[in-house]
Amino acid sequence: MPAVGGIPVGAPGREYPGNLTPFVTVTCIVAAMGGLIFGYDIGISGGVTSMDPFLKKFFPAVFRKKNEKASTNQYCQYDSETLTMFTSSLYLAALLSSLVASTVTRKFGRKLSMLFGGVLFCSGAILNGLAQAVWMLIVGRILLGFGIGFANQSVPLYLSEMAPYKFRGALNIGFQLSITVGILIANVLNYFFAKIKGGWGWRLSLGGAMVPAIIIIVGSLALPDTPNSMIERGQHDEAKEKLKRIRGVDNVEEELNDLIAASEASRLVEHPWRNLLQRKYRPHLSMAILIPFFQQLTGINVIMFYAPVLFNTIGFGSDASLMSAVITGVVNVVATMVSIYGVDKWGRRFLFLEGGVQMLICQCIVAAAIGAKFGVDGDPGHLPKWYAIVVVLFICIYVAGFAWSWGPLGWLVPSEIFPLEIRSAAQSINVSVNMFFTFVVAQIFLTMLCHLKFGLFLFFAFFVVVMTFFVYFFLPETKGIPIEEMAKVWKTHWYWSRFVSAEDFPNVEMSKEGQALKNV
Ligand code: BGC
Repeated sequence: MPAVGGIPVGAPGREYPGNLTPFVTVTCIVAAMGGLIFGYDIGISGGVTSMDPFLKKFFPAVFRKKNEKASTNQYCQYDSETLTMFTSSLYLAALLSSLVASTVTRKFGRKLSMLFGGVLFCSGAILNGLAQAVWMLIVGRILLGFGIGFANQSVPLYLSEMAPYKFRGALNIGFQLSITVGILIANVLNYFFAKIKGGWGWRLSLGGAMVPAIIIIVGSLALPDTPNSMIERGQHDEAKEKLKRIRGVDNVEEELNDLIAASEASRLVEHPWRNLLQRKYRPHLSMAILIPFFQQLTGINVIMFYAPVLFNTIGFGSDASLMSAVITGVVNVVATMVSIYGVDKWGRRFLFLEGGVQMLICQCIVAAAIGAKFGVDGDPGHLPKWYAIVVVLFICIYVAGFAWSWGPLGWLVPSEIFPLEIRSAAQSINVSVNMFFTFVVAQIFLTMLCHLKFGLFLFFAFFVVVMTFFVYFFLPETKGIPIEEMAKVWKTHWYWSRFVSAEDFPNVEMSKEGQALKNV
C-alpha cells in the first residue's frame, strides 16, 4: 500500500512484491537514529541535573539547597525555574518547529527536512557539550528541540514511504522502540560519565547527542528521494525506476499506479483543517486531542526526565539514583517489545485497559510508600533498604504498564484511525498536543513535587482512572481492521454513531464483522 501523510492508503489486503534491499536497510538505520536521538534527549537531562559538578556550575542555588540536608524539605530541593527550563525548553521548540517542518517536508522533500534536523541537532549538542553559561545550555536545548521537530516530522514519513508494506506496522512501533533504546543509552552513559574524575562527565553526556546527529546528516545526504515525492513533482518515469531499485524487483507497476492514485487523491483535498471540524470527523478530532493529552498525563515523563532526581529526592545516593534510572530504562525497552508482540494478538483495548489498571495500582503504592516515609514535611529520617526496593520495584511495574500500552499505542492508534482527507491535519494536531503536554509536565513537575509532595503521584493516578474509563467506553477496537474500512468502527459505536451516520463514508461497507463490533 502506498502512504500519504506517513500512513498507508490503497486497496485493502493487496500485497506488492518487494524485498528487504540495502536501500530499505539503510532507511531503517536512519529512521532508528531519528528515534534514538529523541529518546537520548528525553533521558539525558535528568541524569545530568542530578550530577553535582553540573549543578555547582550552572545552578549553584539548587546545589546549595540539595546539600543543606539537615533542615531542608527534600520535596523542594530541586525546585528551580531555570532548571526546569533546561529540560522543558526542548519540547516547546519541537512544537514550534514541527509546524514549520510540515511545510518544508511537503515543498522541499523529506531529505531536506532530515538534513535540517541533523544539522540543528549537531549544533545543539556541540553548544551543550561546550556550555559555559546557563544560556548556552538553554539555547542548545532549543536547537535540539528544533531538530526533533524536523526529524520527527520527516523520518516517520520517509520511513513509511520506503518500507515494504508488509513491514510498515512493525516499523511504526519500531520507531517507539528506538526512542526507548535512546532513553536507555542516555541512562547508561550518565551512570558511567558521572564517575569521571574532574567532574566534566556531563559534557560527554550532552555532547554525545552528536553521534546520532552525524549519522542522520550523512544518511540524509546519501539516501535517495522517495518515489512518492518524485510523483508529487510529476516525475513518474524516474519514480518507477527508483521504485524498482528500492524494492529489488521489476514488477512494481501495481504499487506505482496506487502511489499515483494516492498522490492525486491527496491533491484533491482542499481544506484539511476546515474538514476536520465537520460533524462526521468529531470522533477523529476528539482522539487527535485526547490520546496525546492522556498519554502525557500518565505522568510517564516524570520518570523519564527526572528519575535520577526523583530517586535522589527520596533518599538514594547519586550512584544508586543513576543506576535505578538504568533499571527503569531496561524495563521500558523490554516492555515495548511485549507490545510489538501482543498488539495484533490481544488487541489495543486489552493493552490499554490492562496497562491503565497496572499503572494506577503502582502509582497508589508509590504515593503511599513515599507519603509514609516523608510525610508532608519532607523529612525522611532513616530510610531502610526494603523501602528503596519497594519504590524502585513499583516504579518499574508502572513503567512496564506504560510501555506496553499508552507508550506505543499513543502513536499507533491515531495513525490508523484518520481517513485520508484529514490525515495530515489530524496527525499534526496529535503531534502538537503531545509536545505541548510534554512541555507542561516537564515545566511544572519539580514545582508540583514541592507543593503536592507525595500527592503528585495521586494527581497522575486520577488521570489514569479517567483515561481508563475513557478507553473502556469510547475507544473502539481497531485491531485487524483495514484502514480503509475504519469508518465502520464509529458507525457501529454506541456513542460515536450519533456523529457518523450511515451516509458518511459511503464507500465503507458494513460487514458482519462491523455489526459484531456493536457489542464491543
Ligand atoms: C512518549 C514520550 C515518552 C516515551 C517513553 C513516548 O511514547 O511520547 O513522551 O517519553 O514514550 O518511552
